Amino acid sequence: MRFIHDFTLVNNAKYAADVSVLTLQNDSDLPQIAAGQFVEVRVDNTPGVMLRRPISIHDVNYSKNQIKLMVQNVGKGTDALCRLAVGATLNVLYPLGAEFPVPEQGKQPLLIGGGCGVAPLLYLGRCFLNNGITPCFLLGFRSMSTLIETKTYSELGEVMITTEDGSVGHKGYVVNHPVMCSETPNFDTIYTCGPEIMMKAVAKYAEQHGMECYASLENRMACGIGACLCCVAPTVEGNKCTCVEGPVFNSKYLQW
Ligand SMILES: Cc1cc2nc3c(=O)[nH]c(=O)nc-3n(C[C@H](O)[C@H](O)[C@H](O)COP(=O)(O)OP(=O)(O)OC[C@H]3O[C@@H](n4cnc5c(N)ncnc54)[C@H](O)[C@@H]3O)c2cc1C
Ligand code: FES
Repeated sequence: MRFIHDFTLVNNAKYAADVSVLTLQNDSDLPQIAAGQFVEVRVDNTPGVMLRRPISIHDVNYSKNQIKLMVQNVGKGTDALCRLAVGATLNVLYPLGAEFPVPEQGKQPLLIGGGCGVAPLLYLGRCFLNNGITPCFLLGFRSMSTLIETKTYSELGEVMITTEDGSVGHKGYVVNHPVMCSETPNFDTIYTCGPEIMMKAVAKYAEQHGMECYASLENRMACGIGACLCCVAPTVEGNKCTCVEGPVFNSKYLQW
């Protein structure tokens, strides 16, 4: 079931030059939200921004009726969101889309994110931990100055970092990390979100090692509810709406 609620912005934390983590609070109880789902935020008072913007649900705190969104400033809509002051009202359509599947007990998942694509992996890791599975994160950034909230991830499980310039963690891309170079991986399933080129490389690795891989796509969206068909992705069963049948897909299903 989907809801449209007015949330109040209670915190706007800057983590890198162009990224804000917004904490939004609702007056009433939150509905059940699954990891991998997203919101469509209305961007008010911004000329030229008519459509809501899709943003992953970064974290959920049911006891405080709060959700968090990690927003990267790439254009007019996200710029307006990043500039919002505490106390602002945000109109949110949520929770939308299909979730990441929870692995069976005893399975070891690896959560791989790149840049702002790390956003949905925090709540995914929290859901895994609540199910008795300790998550392991592999997070890729450009450099030390672009790291986002890595301490918060490390409260849930192990965090491995790559940076393109080697200023923190392993130098290179996530697929260059030693954990991805092992011929006998310690992981059963990969969950990934980030630049498409990164997710394709991760999916190829998973396929070569006989592992399941779930990727969260960030196709351009408008309605977010399956009505406009502007977000379709080619799959082995034809074009599918990423807003309703995704954004999370088994990578074997995608025709990238
Ligand atoms: C399911 C889903 C989850 C998302 N989660 C997040 C998130 O957690 N945090 C976040 O910062 N962003 C996320 N995005 C991307 C975000 O929706 C776009 O960056 C945003 O809509 C851009 O709006 P704008 O008005 O700022 O930019 P626009 O002015 O619309 O575009 C500016 C630039 O951004 C590019 N762009 C626009 N939309 C996308 C997109 N969907 N993917 C890649 N490039 C895009 C455009 O091609 C253009 O170059 C998500 C997208 C989807 C579909
Ligand atoms: S965004 Fe309209 S159908 Fe997906």
